[in-house]
Amino acid sequence: MKNPKILLLGAGGFIGANLTERLLQDGKYEVTAIDIESEKLEDRLDHAKLNFKQHDIRSRCDSLDNMVKDHDLVVDLVAMANPSLYVTNPIDVFDLNFTENLRIVDSCLKYNKRIIQFSTCEVYGKTVASVLGKDPAEMPFPFNEDTTPMIMGPIKNHRWIYACAKQLLERVLHAYGLEKGLNYTIIRPFNFIGPRIDFLPSEKAGNPRVFSHFMNGLLYGTPMQLVDGGINYRAYTYIDDAVDCMIRIIDNPGGVCDREIFNIGTPENEVTIKELAHMMKKVFDEDFRQPGDPDPEIVSVSSEEFYGKGYEDCDRRIPDVTKARTKLGWHSKHDIRSVIHHTMKYFVDQHRAKQKAA
Ligand code: NAD
Ligand code: UGA
Repeated sequence: MKNPKILLLGAGGFIGANLTERLLQDGKYEVTAIDIESEKLEDRLDHAKLNFKQHDIRSRCDSLDNMVKDHDLVVDLVAMANPSLYVTNPIDVFDLNFTENLRIVDSCLKYNKRIIQFSTCEVYGKTVASVLGKDPAEMPFPFNEDTTPMIMGPIKNHRWIYACAKQLLERVLHAYGLEKGLNYTIIRPFNFIGPRIDFLPSEKAGNPRVFSHFMNGLLYGTPMQLVDGGINYRAYTYIDDAVDCMIRIIDNPGGVCDREIFNIGTPENEVTIKELAHMMKKVFDEDFRQPGDPDPEIVSVSSEEFYGKGYEDCDRRIPDVTKARTKLGWHSKHDIRSVIHHTMKYFVDQHRAKQKAA
């Protein structure tokens, strides 16, 4: 049988670059990788089974539609996926994450192609505990793909535009499946971290996700800032474990993923952001510290000061991964310490190399 041809949109990002690398290692796929950026794929660009095209999915031309036609499977990762942008650029977030992604879905429908759409655990929103004014620590509330209702904050807190755009796209996919027979699989990632995630704010302008901010503190001495005290929870999954699950979804044995939604996450790796900051300091001290490295302070900052007006947080998000386990035989292997160690190693190695070269 010929190698399946995969069109990977957003392949130059954190998840995309890690997934592309694994698909190429496996050797049984031909990958067309699309992105506006290629930096994270640089060491793979000359691979015989990789065809990278620098392309903006917002450009109005037929080429993307034709590419969909020419491939067996479309994997769509393109999004603005960084919470600071939900606050500063809500219209751009909606336009890219819903409107432009819907055009891809329409092409898949037109050519009868299977699509794997990356959504987010943020579609679940907040917990029942938070709505009732109770402590979420007292009320564990695992999020299930097919039974859990979705609770978003008020419109004035425009952070939710990301979650709503993703949720609406999921609802359209479901309707297309129901009425028109589109074959889709939706993935809801729960806080993946690992090599190639984001960037350090001392090296590149912008406001990345939390791990990069804390890493910046450990390498450059900037304070590790706990937004609103860092009381909210996240459950972290190592990118290699997440990619294992994605490969199973791509392979789709016996069609078990057809028109299904999958959480990918690690409930055992749940920490508050405050705990994350202290664990990162401890892992850095135990595994990586060298004489002369800074010792950043951990401080609290208000969300308005950190993000601006319109931010509101998800208090707790525990993935129910029963479906991935029973249908795909998947579970993640890395515990929280090892997830932090491996992700940290990526940043530390790069930093030491730069120090050496200077
Ligand atoms: P990322 O920002 O690293 O990757 C997104 C990629 O999309 C980037 O490489 C970017 O250059 C590309 N892109 C943006 N606009 C584009 C355009 N107009 N045309 C072509 N390419 C464009 O983010 P990520 O963490 O790799 O996330 C990938 C997907 O997974 C996103 O849809 C995100 O919402 C979802 N997701 C990720 C996580 C996570 O844990 N990382 C969690 C939940 C959801
Ligand atoms: C992110 C993004 O929405 C998406 O990439 C994705 O949908 C989701 O994660 C995911 O990875 O599953 P979030 O977890 O809120 O959402 O993003 P982070 O920026 O990593 O923030 C995590 C927590 O740390 C939040 O409570 C935030 O307020 C806090 N934070 C962030 C700090 O305390 N300090 C910082 O310096 C940065």
